[in-house]
Amino acid sequence: MCGIVAYIGKREAYPVLIKGLHRLEYRGYDSAGIALLHKKEMNIYKTKGKVADLEKFVAGNDTQGHMGIAHTRWATHGVPNAINAHPHCSGNNNLAIIHNGIIENYLLLKKALQKQGYTFKSDTDTEVLVQLIDYIKTNNNCSLFDAVQTALRKVVGAYAIAIVEKGNEGEIIAARKSSPLAIGMGKDNEEFFIASDVTPFAEYTNKVVYLKDEEVVRIRLGESPKIVNLDKTESEINVEHLNMSLSQLEKGGYPHFMLKEINEQPQTILDCIRGRINRPATDVKLSGVMDHMDKLLSARRFIIVACGTSWHAGLIGKHMIEEFCRVPVQVEYASEFRYCCPVVDEQDVVIAVSQSGETADTLAAVQLAKSKGAFVYGICNVVGSSIARNTDTGTYIHVGPEIGVASTKAFTGQVTVLTMFAMCIAKMKRTISKERYEKILKGLKSLPDLIKEVLQYGNKIKDLSAVFTYAHNFLYLGRGYNYPLALEGALKLKEISYIHAEGYPSAEMKHGPIALIDHEMPTFVIATSDSIYEKTVSNIQEIKARGGKVIALVTKGDKFVSSMADYILEMPYVDECLAPIVSCIPLQLFAYYIAVQKGRNVDQPRNLAKSVTVE
Ligand code: AGP
Ligand code: GLU
Repeated sequence: MCGIVAYIGKREAYPVLIKGLHRLEYRGYDSAGIALLHKKEMNIYKTKGKVADLEKFVAGNDTQGHMGIAHTRWATHGVPNAINAHPHCSGNNNLAIIHNGIIENYLLLKKALQKQGYTFKSDTDTEVLVQLIDYIKTNNNCSLFDAVQTALRKVVGAYAIAIVEKGNEGEIIAARKSSPLAIGMGKDNEEFFIASDVTPFAEYTNKVVYLKDEEVVRIRLGESPKIVNLDKTESEINVEHLNMSLSQLEKGGYPHFMLKEINEQPQTILDCIRGRINRPATDVKLSGVMDHMDKLLSARRFIIVACGTSWHAGLIGKHMIEEFCRVPVQVEYASEFRYCCPVVDEQDVVIAVSQSGETADTLAAVQLAKSKGAFVYGICNVVGSSIARNTDTGTYIHVGPEIGVASTKAFTGQVTVLTMFAMCIAKMKRTISKERYEKILKGLKSLPDLIKEVLQYGNKIKDLSAVFTYAHNFLYLGRGYNYPLALEGALKLKEISYIHAEGYPSAEMKHGPIALIDHEMPTFVIATSDSIYEKTVSNIQEIKARGGKVIALVTKGDKFVSSMADYILEMPYVDECLAPIVSCIPLQLFAYYIAVQKGRNVDQPRNLAKSVTVE
């Protein structure tokens, strides 16, 4: 789950690497480190804490050099401290490595190396890998490039690595399996960048090569990179072009990325539907669907696999596909799907939903589904990500880089794509009337304006959240399309404010959670006007009868709930199936402001990382 970045070229490496680490900090931030090569020396600085702590730690020291590697860590093996921070070195300090992933057979390898007299300073799996490479290099008297390939053939696990060698200032070796790695190509091979994603180098070059699984690359100044597979075949270099602006990567005047990303949603929804729904809103086309219509129309069922917020989007997608396409849909946690002997075969279509496109469990679920013959459709945000490349077809949500750990604009993008997906299939299956179809497409087109309207209540939500910073527990309730939203509201609150929160289908409350209701346990009810509104009203009465405090999100003009709830938030009327794309905004803002008022680190909450590339 760590972020890695490396540079070789004419620039001073230190500022490039530090800036790159800041961009990758969403991937992990418990410790950080850097190795700089200069005049046959290698200076290594490592510290516990964030990249800013690393900068303070390095201040005043020698940061010269035109080549280096850097790392921001989310520990898997060994506590977060300076010793376990990357880069890790071989015993003779000649080699330094940065690594994202897990070497699963590290204990076996470590024991074998200890028998050969190797000693270890850290508790990490990564140090074992660099020592193994050193062992192979020394004993076989081979190049670093060859030694890395031989070592990786002995490794079980996941890795994206970059390795440098003291005294060898023109060369970096990198490799990947399961963890992502992108190479930024400078002009005329005069400089190269290597990173977990393209954000560290998007401002320097728009040419990128995505390394594939089990590929090892030798980067040398002045030469075209040489890429070989672990089976020793040489791969062709496939240079892709990036389309990312710098302003997309910065906070643009907002105090946090999360607030910026919440506020971007009118634009990101527009970007998501652009070119897909025609101007009069009478037709929607997703090329990923159109090109594989036969497969999709003959699906016996859809299985949606995802984690966290993406899983919540999947639950809304299920409701939509079942309602409009009349095909059964199963929604599975990717992590469970992999290990529960799923009944899946070539008659199924698996839909993988992932913002990052790198979530290890979702990627593994995709691979499992493919191995069983299922056709796999991906809904990802990060272009060129592992899941996007491992699926048979798919649709990007196109919401731009999401940096805040709490997913916001990706959620609305995912639900929007799932809606368009359902509409495409329903139209072809003739399971939706023309009138309903066009109404939903018009509704999708109106979402940016409706979201703008809801965003205007930001200050009211801020004031309201100040009332509830006392809470230790929160209940979120919703029914139908709003049930997944209750789950999502609760997830947002717990992950950034650390207040315990649970999402429940409103009517399930009386089967247990109602026992928790008292004046100290507030309930957030999503009670917008829909087909089960009256039932939700009854659920609110049940809470009030037990002294519970209720915040209700209602449709403008609501009469019943407004007279019962303690606090009311309003939103404009939206068709029931599209409502979650608008009603999630107040929930996101509510969690955001509570977290800010409690002094939490909103963009980088404790223990979490943006992209979970470990199982
Ligand atoms: C969302 O706020 C979370 N941080 C998390 O649940 C996230 O949605 C999950 O890890 C899945 O990530 P993905 O969409 O990148 O696969
Ligand atoms: N396993 C390595 C460590 O614990 C890398 C962790 C990761 O990429 O998540 O340092």
